[in-house]
Amino acid sequence: MKISDINIKIISDSRGKDTLEAELKSEDFSAKASAPAGKSIGTHEAFVLEPKLALKKFEEIKTKILSNEFESQENFDNFLIELDGTPSTSSGQAPSTSSGQAPSTSSGQAPSTSSGQAKSNLGGNLILSLSLAFARLKAKNERLELFNYISHQSLVVGRKSKNLLRPIFNVINGGAHATHRESKLEIQEFQVIPEVDDFNIAFSLGKIFYRKLGNYLKDKFGSENVFLGDEAGYSAPFKNNEEAIECLAEIIEKYKYPLKIGLDIAAAQFYRDGFYIVDGKKYSAEELKNYYLKLIETYNILSIEDPFNEEDFSSFALLTTELYGTNAEQCGKLVIADDLTTTNIERLKIAINKKSGNAILIKPNQIGTLTETLKVIKFAYENNWQAIVSHRSGETLDDFIADLAIGVGAWGIKAGAPAKPERLAKYERVLTIQNANIKM
Ligand code: PGA
Ligand code: ZN
Repeated sequence: MKISDINIKIISDSRGKDTLEAELKSEDFSAKASAPAGKSIGTHEAFVLEPKLALKKFEEIKTKILSNEFESQENFDNFLIELDGTPSTSSGQAPSTSSGQAPSTSSGQAPSTSSGQAKSNLGGNLILSLSLAFARLKAKNERLELFNYISHQSLVVGRKSKNLLRPIFNVINGGAHATHRESKLEIQEFQVIPEVDDFNIAFSLGKIFYRKLGNYLKDKFGSENVFLGDEAGYSAPFKNNEEAIECLAEIIEKYKYPLKIGLDIAAAQFYRDGFYIVDGKKYSAEELKNYYLKLIETYNILSIEDPFNEEDFSSFALLTTELYGTNAEQCGKLVIADDLTTTNIERLKIAINKKSGNAILIKPNQIGTLTETLKVIKFAYENNWQAIVSHRSGETLDDFIADLAIGVGAWGIKAGAPAKPERLAKYERVLTIQNANIKM
């Protein structure tokens, strides 16, 4: 495919921060895509280039892109990867164990130095917006829906028997995503996951639950104390983490909703010098594991993401084995790696080798291209791991991840609470695709 023109512009994300939107044109079509931004950013993620600098970088490469023809997605993505020239394993260092690890920063800022980070030359955000816009444009040229185009990529051999896609609603926002100053929640996401086999029903259930929870929290804390966090879940002056889980459990139990609870711990955010500070107490990895085992049993928790620091493959493995024994791939419950693996195949290989979970969170902007994202998913599937496709806390109206989740037959899609346009866009795109019943 010949690209006839490209434009990059700066748009605002859901936090009002600058981000990039790419528009690619071919003879007959044009397509746009934009880059989201995380706040609890994994150390091994692709580098985020300051958008104004990214515009300058783009001017340097624009004619190179326009003077080429690209037969395939892989062709285009590899071209960008080569132009960038940095290795895709972020720090270029072998991951170390949790002990003696420097504390991760929780500032939510992109790291100030880019040395050694993947995509640090052109910026993962510039590369991603180009890669995703290319996918949309190529799909249009091939007269395919985007999810079909994705599922036709030879890289996805994965699911023959299609997974049922579940929405994962983040209804209480803690950690770096909390907006109430008196929130004492270290855990970042308190989720509900519908256990129904129809996305329409699952979505309605999510919205009903979200409203009920809002009223419940307003009664409990006073309406002046119930805010919305970064991912549209509620933020309120919770005193401790279990209190938030109890609220979800109580409503689920009262109305007998077919919902399970999920948690994204994002533990790297409260890891300091070998210990974890939770509810004002200092926990070793072993003590924290026992704390999780109790929570999981008490509240019948379905999935737990990033339970330990982002370098601690071993503690992830211990928790997975204690929970599921040798049955991790079949048990239906999940230990999910996000900051641990950062959608990076080299990190996923280590995690699979060490049995550090049974599912990987997929965030295309952690790695920077669609091709690399699909390779990670393929590798996960080949090793019987599940994939959950995810938004970022700083989002745009781009709904690419909905097509990605359907195209690869993901276990779930994590797009925040069922509220606010940038979150709803993803869930609604899934509904549009499923209700149109377009054949894959
Ligand atoms: P982030 O959080 O987008 O702020 O990194 C999402 C997550 O940790 O899953
Ligand atoms: Zn996470």
